[in-house]
Amino acid sequence: MRFPNPAACCLAAALLALSRPVRADGLEPGRGSPDDLAVSGLFTPLSPGATAHFTRASLEAMPGVVKIHESVKPELPEVDLEVLPLLELFKAVPPAAGADGIVLIGADSWESFLPMEFVKTYHPYVLLRYDGRTPAGGWPKVYGIKPLAPYFSDISPSLGPKLETPLEYGYNDANQMVEIRAVVTKDRYAPFFEGKLAGLSPAAAMGRKTFLRECSNCHLGPGHVGGNVAHRSFALLSAQATLSKDYFIHFVRNSTLYLPETVMAPYDQMSPAEMDGLVAFLQAARAAGVE
Ligand code: HEC
Repeated sequence: MRFPNPAACCLAAALLALSRPVRADGLEPGRGSPDDLAVSGLFTPLSPGATAHFTRASLEAMPGVVKIHESVKPELPEVDLEVLPLLELFKAVPPAAGADGIVLIGADSWESFLPMEFVKTYHPYVLLRYDGRTPAGGWPKVYGIKPLAPYFSDISPSLGPKLETPLEYGYNDANQMVEIRAVVTKDRYAPFFEGKLAGLSPAAAMGRKTFLRECSNCHLGPGHVGGNVAHRSFALLSAQATLSKDYFIHFVRNSTLYLPETVMAPYDQMSPAEMDGLVAFLQAARAAGVE
């Protein structure tokens, strides 16, 4: 191969040395860097069970990247943000027909679940550049401890309507996001609703709703579904709610009294009926042997 000038030659050689097998759609089979964003589950380019990866460079090169000017968290200043709306990402990697939900997964095992309808209405984005910088150039920490990087996802008043009501499945944002999974909602949550948990009392059914909305981002539920920031099994949680109910309730209401550094906020505003429901759900699950 001949190159018109030596600089181009060296650049080409360097790129060749760095290159991994890249598919036409920009997806790479293996994780090449902690800075890659994984996609998994029901996306049309993926074979069942496969995970593939976008590099930051391939995300930045996508045509749907937009610039907005706002603050990502109330405690941070307004800055220029370069973001890729999920719907634009889905042009490069379309969810399969029937996939009606998206899971955003953090490096700390946080999981946010977004119904596809939510994605279409609120236009959540993936943050690529904060004030012109990639994470390598320095992104702010939030809550004093958690960095947003490698990716952060949230909704924005610049891209969609304001969110007025709490979501059925908890928080919609994701810090430290490393993976996006496309799922069928009913299949994902089947262990919460089917088999031994099909015929719950009204109180326990209400507790299941509360668990999905308030706990599931960080705590595994039945069938090990959900986030696992807490590193505690569902069996342990349901055992605590059964064998030491008073401690369980006191801990949930006052988590930071027990563990001042914990990321689990104290649920001191939860109504007694909601707390009773939560306990009824966990006790019913334990009685039925659900793990
Ligand atoms: C932001 C993440 C987060 C959310 C949301 C969350 N937790 Fe936790 N939870 C944790 C973490 C992390 C721990 C482990 C304690 C630690 O090391 O900080 C924990 C521990 C616990 C424990 C164990 C206490 C012990 O004795 O070890 C219970 C019980 C618990 N959580 C219940 C709940 C319930 C019920 C909800 C929902 C109402 C909930 N948590 C929501 C993160 C969370």
